[in-house]
Amino acid sequence: MNDLTIQIKNRGSYPILLRNDFSDLGTAVASLPDMQGRKICIVSDSKVASLYLDTISNMLSAYFDTVTSFVFPEGEENKTLQTVQDLYQHLILKGFERRDILAALGGGVTGDLTGFTAATYLRGIRFIQIPTSLLAQVDSSIGGKTGVDFRGFKNMVGAFHHPVLVYSCSAVFESLHPWDYCSGMGEIIKHGLIRDAEYYKWLKENSSILQHATSYKPGNTELHTEMVLRSDKIKQAIVENDPEEKGERAILNFGHTIGHAIEKYAYESLSHGMCVSVGMKAAAWISKERGMLSQEEYDDICHTLYHLYKLPVSACFVNTVMGISAEEILQTTKSDKKMEKGHVKMILLDRIGHAVICHDVSDKEILAAIKEILE
Ligand code: GLY
Repeated sequence: MNDLTIQIKNRGSYPILLRNDFSDLGTAVASLPDMQGRKICIVSDSKVASLYLDTISNMLSAYFDTVTSFVFPEGEENKTLQTVQDLYQHLILKGFERRDILAALGGGVTGDLTGFTAATYLRGIRFIQIPTSLLAQVDSSIGGKTGVDFRGFKNMVGAFHHPVLVYSCSAVFESLHPWDYCSGMGEIIKHGLIRDAEYYKWLKENSSILQHATSYKPGNTELHTEMVLRSDKIKQAIVENDPEEKGERAILNFGHTIGHAIEKYAYESLSHGMCVSVGMKAAAWISKERGMLSQEEYDDICHTLYHLYKLPVSACFVNTVMGISAEEILQTTKSDKKMEKGHVKMILLDRIGHAVICHDVSDKEILAAIKEILE
């Protein structure tokens, strides 16, 4: 059994349970404090709901008298205040009170949206995360970042609000689309690059198995479970030190500055983790140009992303097909919420396994890096 406990200063702690199936979910939720007689609302998108909602709902119904569900249409375009309002309405009509609880069943969109609703409904109620994508299991379900997109600006409205439980079930990999699996791998490789050179090396050594979602087989889950556990431990350590991103937590944004800008234009062609992969190449390129990374390290990163894990390191179609210039992408990086005093806060590497936060990366450097990934 692989359990972690996240300790957040002045805010208590919560468990992350890693399991091969959902059989422990009912007891795990029912044994949270103060659950007697509480209502629970499962929030899910249409795609995930068709796969798991009945199973999860039946399991929870064995422990709770009132289990309701709120299903919204699949897609990042529905991660909006409108969906949050619809969920508020559902909760009001069903009589949800302050000690009742939400369950986010799904990927990052569902987790962020449910968490934000939980943070704001009746000034804050509890929620649990049941992440069903690789990305959500290793990143978005942990650490209390919640929010929605606003008029095309990603995660622009949000709050820090931690779940009371994260239940990660590896069986979901069986139904995961390769696109979604690949997206999670972008964030996983990021963990190695920013914090743990040994883990990065291990990911390279095991890439022939870990590169495919289809290599996950029930009864032979060790490598995948170890991967999720190692990534979760990295995220745990960073979040415990800096829960509200006043400093160190920003290193988790490695690859995200330019990656988010690419995502704004390419979200129908590239997933979040794929855009992060492109953004990591750009940030690694700036690190190399500054003499912080050797050519060999830079080549190694590009090789791992592109050849070992089949992640993109170029977004040339954004320019050639969509006609977006490097200058426009530069401007988009500046509308990102990671700005500080008008400057882009960029995460670079000074070696594989160690990230640094830089406030002095010039527009010229960012533009040159964008041109590199548009080639
Ligand atoms: N996904 C980045 C963070 O949680 O800080």
